[in-house]
Amino acid sequence: MKSSSSILALFLCSLMILPSDHAIESPQYVVALLATDFEIRVYKNSTWMSAPVRGTSFEKSTKEGFHRLYQFIHGANLDSSEIDITSPVMTSIAQSSQGSFKSYCVSFYLPAKFQGAPPQPNPELNLKLDEQRAECVAVRKFSGFARDDNIDQEMEALVASLDNYTSSRIIKNNKNTFAVAQYNASYHLSRRLNEVWLKVGFPGCK
Ligand SMILES: *[C@@H]1O[C@H](CO)[C@@H](O)[C@H](O)[C@H]1NC(C)=O
Ligand SMILES: *[C@@H]1O[C@H](CO)[C@@H](O)[C@H](O)[C@H]1NC(C)=O
Ligand SMILES: *[C@@H]1O[C@H](CO)[C@@H](O)[C@H](O)[C@H]1NC(C)=O
Repeated sequence: MKSSSSILALFLCSLMILPSDHAIESPQYVVALLATDFEIRVYKNSTWMSAPVRGTSFEKSTKEGFHRLYQFIHGANLDSSEIDITSPVMTSIAQSSQGSFKSYCVSFYLPAKFQGAPPQPNPELNLKLDEQRAECVAVRKFSGFARDDNIDQEMEALVASLDNYTSSRIIKNNKNTFAVAQYNASYHLSRRLNEVWLKVGFPGCK
């Protein structure tokens, strides 16, 4: 019951977001390396609002976290500010080395206008302000819907591409912590863009 109502809420809210006549803000980056099947990006410091979720499913956790963030951007904050939607919605996944325990955090990039002084979320939403330091990430794009049954494979494929890339030295972060970026509202069934992200060290990048 609870889960079907939050799925409905997500569906309803996704009908209202991403107006096509309106430029949607995203965090700015520079491409440090463009390979055939991955790229390395340098992101600047940026401020996000994040919803930690205790769960076992990527899809369910993303829906639950996004639902809390959706309320925040639609006025559930101490100034009752309306905040424009941005993309992507990020889900960070941390798992134990045996894979037995996972935790999720769903994050919303704050528009430039709110980067310095974001409105405080209503406390019951249990959101936290996330100041991301500048970082280098290796990115692999994929289409369709990001799901529990494909994100691990996409991540493995990214790691394989990085291991296979010998032209310069790429230092991978532990792959037990990675993130999935989703750029499109759920009602878009085709031409969808998602990415898996892994932090890396790379010459000329930090
Ligand atoms: C980025 O954030 C770090 C730590 O919060 C800070 O030391 C650094 O000055 C910031 N850099 C820029 C360019 O704002
Ligand atoms: C590894 O890299 C080589 C040379 O760039 C490429 O031809 C090959 O398809 C790559 N293999 C995989 C598994 O990515
Ligand atoms: C999905 O998002 C990407 C990145 O913003 C965009 O290029 C693409 O056109 C979007 N797809 C649809 C169906 O709107």
